[in-house]
Amino acid sequence: MKIAIGNDHTACELKKSVIAFLEEKGHGVINMGPDTPDPDDDYPAVGEAVGRTVVAKEADLGVLICGTGVGISLAANKVKGVRAAVCSDPATARLTRLHNDANIIAFGARIVGRELALDIVRAFVDTEFSGEERHIRRIAQLTEIENRG
Ligand code: RB5
Repeated sequence: MKIAIGNDHTACELKKSVIAFLEEKGHGVINMGPDTPDPDDDYPAVGEAVGRTVVAKEADLGVLICGTGVGISLAANKVKGVRAAVCSDPATARLTRLHNDANIIAFGARIVGRELALDIVRAFVDTEFSGEERHIRRIAQLTEIENRG
């Protein structure tokens, strides 16, 4: 799988651990965030860039990390076709793939530690969308809301 990853200045170290973990699992990684912390590295542009990469199908899934995961997920969710979910536990990460067909996961470097972050990423990338009719219907309703602007 090809995975786009992005972060802000709060998450450079955690991002590196996630990249190493994904590469060890055999995934290709597109690194779209800074590798060294600069407080001027704001999250919106990175969230948007990862969102556009996923929607363009240049990556299968995305991973976003900022202080809380919230700001960077809000930026990604402004891109049409993105379903970015903030998850602080592996069960939510699994269910958001299964039920919401989330295409980006976000979490906070100030909220989750390294091991928990890797468990969250593992659950997200190892789970496929269920494809169940009721979930397809609800996701289509989300798209309708998005299309109404
Ligand atoms: C940066 O201080 C912080 O606001 C950012 O990383 C993120 O948590 C925003 O949602």
